[in-house]
Order: sequence, then C-alpha cells, then structure tokens
Amino acid sequence: TKPVRVALLGCGTVGSEVARLLHEQADDLAARVGAPVELAGIAVRRPNRHRDVPADLLTTDVDGLVTDDGVDVVVEVIGGIEPTRTLLLKALSAGRSVVTANKALLAECGAELFAAADASGADLYFEAAVAGAIPLLRPLRESLAGDRITRVMGIVNGTTNYILSAMDATGAAYGETLDEATRLGYAEADPTADVDGYDAASKAAILASLAFHTRVTSADVHREGIAGITAADVAAARALGRTVKLLAICERVTENGEESVSVRVHPAMIPRSHPLAGVGGAFNAVFVEAEAAGQLMFYGQGAGGAPTASAVLGDLVAVARNRVVGGRGPRESAYADLPVRPMGEA
Ligand code: HSE
Repeated sequence: TKPVRVALLGCGTVGSEVARLLHEQADDLAARVGAPVELAGIAVRRPNRHRDVPADLLTTDVDGLVTDDGVDVVVEVIGGIEPTRTLLLKALSAGRSVVTANKALLAECGAELFAAADASGADLYFEAAVAGAIPLLRPLRESLAGDRITRVMGIVNGTTNYILSAMDATGAAYGETLDEATRLGYAEADPTADVDGYDAASKAAILASLAFHTRVTSADVHREGIAGITAADVAAARALGRTVKLLAICERVTENGEESVSVRVHPAMIPRSHPLAGVGGAFNAVFVEAEAAGQLMFYGQGAGGAPTASAVLGDLVAVARNRVVGGRGPRESAYADLPVRPMGEA
C-alpha cells in the first residue's frame, strides 16, 4: 500500500520523541493504520543540533515541507502563534491532515483552523494540546458526543502542579522549585506561560469549546497564576487541612433561563481529602460531569516528551487511518454560541 507521508514540524522535547517512536514502532503502526507511516521530513531551525534523528530528513525549509505534494499529514510541535498559524492554515487548505500539540494557537485561532479543515475536508486532531498523555479530548469530542456535559474541572498544568506539590511537601520557596521544574523539562521554554496561568487558560478554552460546543478563546478565560503563592500561603493551607492547587474550571451556567459558560483558572485551597489534592508531580487530573454519564475522572501524565508524544502518535494513527480508508474524524461543532460570563461573575 501507498505509505502515509508525514512532515514533522519541530524536533524539541516532544518532536524528537515522536520521531523516535515512529521509527521504533514502524511495523506496529503500519499494521494499525493499514499502510506504512513514513517521515517525509523534519523542519528545524538549526539542523546541527539534532544528532538523534537521521540527518537526511532534517530541513530548515519549513514552508517547502508543508507544501510538498508528497506530504499527507503535518505534525506540528513547534508551538507559538506565528509562523505556525500560517503554516497550518496552508497545510489544511491544501487538504493535508494536521496533528498539533499547540494549545496557544488552538485557543486563540481555533475557529480559523477548523474552518480551513472543514473547507478542504482535512482532519485536525489535537489530543496532545491538553493534559499530555491523558485521552481527554477524544472522549469529549466522540465518546460523550451523545451526552450533555455540565462541568469540566481539574489540574491541567504539570509545571505549576509540580511546583505547588513540591512546595507543599518540602516547604521550599517558590523560586527554587520553579528552577527544578524547568530543569526537569516540564516548564515551557518561557515559564511565564505556566506560572501565570496562560497555558492552563489556553487548555481551559479548548476544553470549554469542546465540552459546550461553543467558541471560547483564551481571552475569554478569567486567569490568575501561582507566581504570588508563597511558602507561608502553602503552610497556612496545610494548617487548615488543605493544599493549594491551580484549577481550571469550565461550567455551564443557566440563570433566568439563559445559558452561558464560565471559564476560569486560579489557585484554590482544596481539602486534603479531595481526589485532586493527591495529584502530585507533573500529573494532571480532570473531572468531567455529564447529565447521563455522571462523574468521570481522567488522570495521568500531563507533560513531558514521551507522554505528550504518545498523544501525538495516537492522533497520527487516527488521521493516517482516515486517509487510508477515505474517512474523516469529528467535525468542529461550535454551534451552541453560548456567551462567556465576564470575569468575577462566576
Ligand atoms: N508546560 C506544560 C505543563 C506542558 O506544564 O503542563 C504541557 O502542556
């Protein structure tokens, strides 16, 4: 069978793991997809820095790779808004399927990307964008598609959870704990995205959009980070039998017969007996409440190269399989058009 050819954009912590798994699991992946899945090229900025991947695959010509006629699927793990947005719009418009881990882009420009995918009939999958390895978006988009979701709440940022858990366990100060999280590779290149809550806010916007079939952007999310949390705050919480966690909360609200959504990210003191209190390290955990399903809990590794690459590979198998059988994954379903409650009214 004709191979499915993949352009990999970016080869950092996640990208290098994707390349490694594609190589190591080639036979299994081919069997699951029904065709070989081959790397057509890996776009990087500095080729001499990537000795762990085959040199002949590396290119600095990202534009050429995305528009290459031989490419079926674009996997994007570069991050950031531009030039990524332009590259992915180009890929989708040309009918290439896209797998992306880019929460900031989806939360800011999701509508535009989905419109481009719908127009050309391409797939757009992004499981890795929220909660790393945890299968969460596919359940929201597909498994729960027949239910009515009322609430999604949890810990969706591994870096801040690592920091808060370590501060709770050791009594250490915020700054030294942040340095450790960066050293372990959990924090983004620029840790402000994590500690100021931007990363969690992007994820909350994506979760709320999928859960409530509406369009929530990062700018709609009430956001408060953890940079102001001191060792004294953590000790005070402890004295009250509580612990501090950064929570993302997406709720469907009905008031006077009018529906709206409330989406917010902020630190909260939760009782130590609460299931979220025991979520440590770079782990994530998300509760979903739906009318018929009741309460569901998703838990696992929310950050790191291999866990995130697992989610990327899962999406890649899905879109490659769709290519082989001539099908398409779930459509964007932002039909509800619910207003988002302004800050402070939640
Ligand atoms: N920096 C993010 C986190 C990576 O700490 O959760 C995963 O999105």
